[in-house]
Amino acid sequence: MNLSKEEIIHLLTKEDGNSLFEKANKVREESVGNSVHLRALIEFSNICKNNCLYCGLRKDNLEIKRYRLTKDDILNDVKKAVDLGFKTIVLQSGEDMYFNQKRICEIIEAIKKYDVALTLSIGERTYQEYKAFKNAGADRYLIRIETTNKDLYHSLDPDMSWDNRYKCLLNLRELGYELGSGIMVGLPNQTIESIADDLLFLKHINVDMAGIGPFIPHPKTPLANKKGGTLDLSLRTMAIMRLLLEDINIPATTAMEALHPEGQIKALESGANVIMPNMTNHGYRKLYDLYPNKENTIKPLDLLSQKLQSINRTISKDYGFRKKLIY
Ligand code: 5AD
Ligand code: SF4
Repeated sequence: MNLSKEEIIHLLTKEDGNSLFEKANKVREESVGNSVHLRALIEFSNICKNNCLYCGLRKDNLEIKRYRLTKDDILNDVKKAVDLGFKTIVLQSGEDMYFNQKRICEIIEAIKKYDVALTLSIGERTYQEYKAFKNAGADRYLIRIETTNKDLYHSLDPDMSWDNRYKCLLNLRELGYELGSGIMVGLPNQTIESIADDLLFLKHINVDMAGIGPFIPHPKTPLANKKGGTLDLSLRTMAIMRLLLEDINIPATTAMEALHPEGQIKALESGANVIMPNMTNHGYRKLYDLYPNKENTIKPLDLLSQKLQSINRTISKDYGFRKKLIY
């Protein structure tokens, strides 16, 4: 559905929350149904050359132990996920240039021997690299735009360029990836108007997946003392995304669960249809420390499936590509 910026601002600030969430939940049910896609998330390196002010993995955070999984470690996690029935693997890392084109392509090829769809979330790379990853078998790519306010972006992501990030999205789209992007809600100095712009931007580029989560201040970053985003505003933003792009995939993000023990269930009842359980080897999970409380969100899969049952949702058995209704 189309919404004007003014209508979005109204929904973000004035509309009764429950009525917005119910509406988004209904649109979700009508457009993508009651099944929930599970994606196995493997966080294979917490090494990052960037210095995003909000992120616990920023290079200036010297208090975190860094790790990098070997190809065999990664394949072990993949195999576990495949045995559990996952149909999508998501490979995520900081911007770790040890994993060059050749290494990433080798990993992609090994994973694609299994019957799974593969999503990469490894940051900004060149067109050539994205092309090589696609040729090696990658199906989808996640790269959040974080915010569409360029000044805000440049103040939070020193030495990075918003235009380059946008170019990455365009390149990925051109190369035929399913495209995932998203934002953080409640960043310092982020306005409601700016969140409305973000939503219109994600609609305009017609993302296939939109990940929306609250900003959560990390104690070992320059934003340690800032206020974080709220669950309510994050859920509203996510619900409006569902209204704007009815048929896309929308994850109930881990950051929502980190703020509230029922955050993901609330999200699933407010427009979300995807969960990304963490399948990284136990020993490394706590080191992928993007924001506080993230590790506590990891729950056993049988508990997740019970919870899904309790809200009348089933676990999808297919790859979970976007089934375009309108385009
Ligand atoms: N709070 C919430 N989300 C964060 N991310 C990074 N740091 C934080 C934080 N402190 C998100 C960013 C990034 C994704 C991998 O994690 O949106 O794209
Ligand atoms: Fe690196 Fe991503 Fe964290 Fe930025 S948000 S420091 S690019 S891991």
